[in-house]
Order: sequence, then structure tokens, then C-alpha cells
Amino acid sequence: MASFALLITSLLVVWTVLSREPPVVHALDSGVAKLPVLGYNTWNAYHCDINETVVLQAAQLMVSLGLADVGYKHVNIDDCYAEKNRSASGDIVADKERFAAGMNDLTDKIHAMGLKAGIYSDSGWFTCQLYPGSYQNEARDAKLFQDWGFDYLKFDNCAVPYDAIIREGIVGKYKRMADAIADLAKSSGKPPLIFSLCEWGEEQPWLWARRFGQSWRTTGDISPDWGSIASIINQNSFIAWASDFYGHNDMDILEIGNGGLTHDEAKTHFTAWALMKSPLLIGTDLSTISDADLAILKNTELLALSQDPVVGTGVAPFRWGINPDWVSNSTHPAQFWSGESQNGTVFMLINTLDEPADLFFSLTESPWIRAGRQYAVRDLWTHTANGTAVRNFTARGVPPHGVAALLLTDAGDEPPDVGPPCARREWCIDRNGTLAPGA
Ligand SMILES: *[C@@H]1O[C@H](CO)[C@@H](O)[C@H](O)[C@H]1NC(C)=O
Ligand SMILES: *[C@@H]1O[C@H](CO)[C@@H](O)[C@H](O)[C@H]1NC(C)=O
Ligand SMILES: *[C@@H]1O[C@H](CO)[C@@H](O)[C@H](O)[C@H]1NC(C)=O
Ligand SMILES: *[C@@H]1O[C@H](CO)[C@@H](O)[C@H](O)[C@H]1NC(C)=O
Ligand SMILES: *[C@@H]1O[C@H](CO)[C@@H](O)[C@H](O)[C@H]1NC(C)=O
Ligand SMILES: *[C@@H]1O[C@H](CO)[C@@H](O)[C@H](O)[C@H]1NC(C)=O
Ligand SMILES: *[C@@H]1O[C@H](CO)[C@@H](O)[C@H](O)[C@H]1NC(C)=O
Repeated sequence: MASFALLITSLLVVWTVLSREPPVVHALDSGVAKLPVLGYNTWNAYHCDINETVVLQAAQLMVSLGLADVGYKHVNIDDCYAEKNRSASGDIVADKERFAAGMNDLTDKIHAMGLKAGIYSDSGWFTCQLYPGSYQNEARDAKLFQDWGFDYLKFDNCAVPYDAIIREGIVGKYKRMADAIADLAKSSGKPPLIFSLCEWGEEQPWLWARRFGQSWRTTGDISPDWGSIASIINQNSFIAWASDFYGHNDMDILEIGNGGLTHDEAKTHFTAWALMKSPLLIGTDLSTISDADLAILKNTELLALSQDPVVGTGVAPFRWGINPDWVSNSTHPAQFWSGESQNGTVFMLINTLDEPADLFFSLTESPWIRAGRQYAVRDLWTHTANGTAVRNFTARGVPPHGVAALLLTDAGDEPPDVGPPCARREWCIDRNGTLAPGA
């Protein structure tokens, strides 16, 4: 009888555990933007000088230049597309001159090219250029953007209502639109708008924005110079862990093609953004882009890693290099990075110096390398097989502010008698407790 009672009690315990409320469903598994969004954004090239011609031309060039073919699918409109005032009924109105044919016409044409369309708004009273913001109009605006045919919403952080009105803080301010998008998806049966939070990093969005959207800006605005690129890499080096499937640190729009970066700096910019799993949004006038810049944007091996279907995380530093580990330095960010991928371990080596440098690392400095194995090295910029690394590798003559991007794949046991019995002395203890001979 006692054991029967015990059985019943156990079953009740099991039942109670199994029947608990399921965990809150976050944007994490909303089904959209599992991988970093690749596309175009109008801001850096045009600022407020946008109209339907500019947007459609960008879309057409994405197709004709082959960018759509390699994965850039989004054409995202930034600020300044609207009339300054909402309509009498309270809706945002597209600028009647600059978007004369209307937003549905525009998104139809973008979709007909096989692309997706993005729109912009703000979590406060106004956008940064003082067009209508979505505060207290979140559900109305989300519906309008969906009705206009948009797939994606960038949501800025200007004109924050004061405390006595909001009483929610920045997290609560962004939750309002996240909830509106989720409710709209439920009621309309359509996929949710991809939600790109443009909160500039002060309130640590990498800690909370994953609940709400698929990417979050981590820093202030980028500019087309090496100082800006190095500073953004530095800031993001400390939060690299936060990018994974369905949620990405957004390092801001690409400045490739906007002058101000050397070819080597532009390659470093693209490599870091791709391998750290930032969204990749082209921000230049595509009608004048150089072949060299286009070739950077079309590095299909780096794009494949950005879009890795198996591994969601990106590269993270394993050694800072010039500076001691964990030192934040906006001109000299971490230099030695690695990460997992579908096909092997990815290395990113950045030369932060103003002269060429040889960048050396021991393979087991990366946690993703197996001791006692050798690795085939592939250079992801020259697209060449670069021999076999045993114990260590040196990228020679990396140009100033340049990068080496490498994929290392397991090539079997390391050769016998390669050197000391173990790559690391302290990893070489015999079962009797002594250091192996020769270690
Ligand atoms: C659209 O904007 C571009 C760039 O600002 C400008 O050159 C062009 O004249 C505009 N076109 C129309 C139809 O407004
Ligand atoms: C916009 O609305 C404000 C406040 O209602 C009004 O003062 C202003 O004249 C309007 N502007 C335009 C261009 O209609
Ligand atoms: C892995 O290699 C295959 C074959 O080359 C390639 O198609 C795929 O894109 C690679 N995956 C990644 C994440 O690079
Ligand atoms: C950043 O690091 C470089 C290289 O070590 C050093 O020369 C520079 O003084 C550092 N900058 C700051 C602000 O500490
Ligand atoms: C690099 O590894 C090789 C074995 O491939 C070894 O002979 C050499 O001493 C290592 N270099 C350094 C600096 O550890
Ligand atoms: C890989 O080999 C190519 C072709 O020889 C060379 O240009 C490139 O610099 C090498 N890459 C590295 C990182 O050593
Ligand atoms: C421990 O084992 C190693 C390898 O078998 C041997 O060379 C060494 O003499 C042993 N040490 C002791 C203290 O037994």
C-alpha cells in the first residue's frame, strides 16, 4: 500500500512537471531571420535624399550586379520616406511627391525582382529626422507596414518620451512594437515583420533584444573611416557571444564603396561583419561602385560562413595581441579570433598596426582545435589551399589594417616526431603523474 501511494505521488510529481506552462515564446523562434539579413539600406549613400527611383534603382542594381544571386535580398528604406504629419485618421503617409506611386507599388516591384522590402520607424515620438515616430501607434503602424507589403522594420531610438509618460524604460519602449508585431502575425497569419532594433548600445540590447527581434545595433553610427571600423570591432569583441541563430549583433550598415577606406581596410570591415554574424547591409550608391568593392561584397566563401546553416555563432577573440587580453582599445581591437563553422574552424587575424605584420598563433589557442591533429588551411580571400598547419600558423605580411581569413579543416593525426610530445607542456601528464619525457 505504501509503495502504491509512493507510485501515485511520483506520477503526480511527473504530471505536475510535464503540465507546467510552456516557456514564454520569444522572437527567438519566430521563424524569420534565423541567419543574418543580407541586403541594402538607403541611409549611408542617400540620407534623406530618397525617392522611389533611388530605391528601385538600388533594387535593380542588386539584381544586375549579381548581388541578389549571392544572397543580398533585402532592400531597406531608412528615414525620410514619410510626410511630416500623420493622416487625419492617424496613419503615417508616404511622401506624396517622392513616393508618388505609393508604397504598395514599390514593394510589388521589389518583390517582383525576387527581393524583400524593408521600412523604418522609431520607438519614440519622432524619427531621428523628425518624421512621425511610432510611440503609442505601434499596432497601427505595424499593420500599415504589413499592408504596404514590407517584410522588415528597422526601429530607431530618437525622441524618447519622458519618464512620466513612458514609465517603462528602454526595454519596455521596444517591447511595445515587438508585441504589436507578434500580435499582428497571429491575427493576420502572415510571417512577422523582421524586427531590427536600432538601439545604439547604451542600454546593452545584446542582453534583452533577443526577446523582441532578430538584430540589435550595438554601437553608434558607423562612418567611412578606419577609426570607426576599428572602434566598432573593439566594442563588439566583448559581446561576440550574443550573436546566434535568430539574434544578431548589428554592427551597422557597410561603408564599403563610400571612400575613406583602403582596399585592405574594406576587406577587414567586410570580414569582421560577416564572420561576427552582423547583418550585411550595403550602403553605397551601386551605380558607381568599383569592381574592387563589388568583389569584396561578393566574397562567396565569407558569405557562406555568414549564412552558415549549422553553426549560428560567430568568431570571438582568443587573444587580443598587441594589447593584453580583455583590454578595450578603440584603435587597437583584438587581433586573433576564431569560431566554429559547418566545415571547420574559422580564423580571423587583424593587423591593427600601421605597417605590415606577421601574425602567428598556436592552433590550440583556439578552443575549437583538437590537440594532436593537423589542419588543412584555406585562405578565404585568395581562395587557395595554403598547406597544412601543424601546431601553429603564421600569416605573413598582413598589410596595415588588413586581415587574414582562414578556414582550418582537420587533416588527421599530426606527424610523429613533430616536436615536443604535446602542443602545450601542461597538457602532457603521464598517467603516473609525471610530465611526459621531452615535454
Ligand atoms: C530621386 O532622388 C535622386 C537622388 O537624390 C535625385 O537625383 C532624383 O532627381 C530624384 N528623382 C525624382 C523623380 O525625384
Ligand atoms: C502638422 O501638424 C501640426 C500639428 O497639428 C500642425 O501645426 C502643422 O501645421 C501640420 N503641418 C503640415 C505640413 O500639415
Ligand atoms: C561548406 O562547404 C560546402 C562545400 O564546399 C559549401 O557549399 C558550404 O557553403 C560550406 N558552408 C559554409 C558555412 O561555409
Ligand atoms: C591603444 O593601444 C595602442 C597599442 O598598444 C596604444 O599605443 C594606445 O596608447 C592605446 N590607446 C589607448 C587610448 O589606451
Ligand atoms: C610551430 O610548429 C612547428 C611544428 O610544425 C614547430 O617546429 C615550431 O617550433 C613551432 N613554432 C613556434 C614558434 O612555436
Ligand atoms: C595563401 O596563399 C596565397 C597564394 O599563394 C597567398 O597569396 C596568400 O597570402 C596565402 N595566405 C596566407 C594567409 O598566408
Ligand atoms: C612515469 O611514466 C613514464 C612513461 O611511461 C616514465 O618514463 C617515467 O619514468 C615514469 N615516472 C615514474 C616516477 O614512474
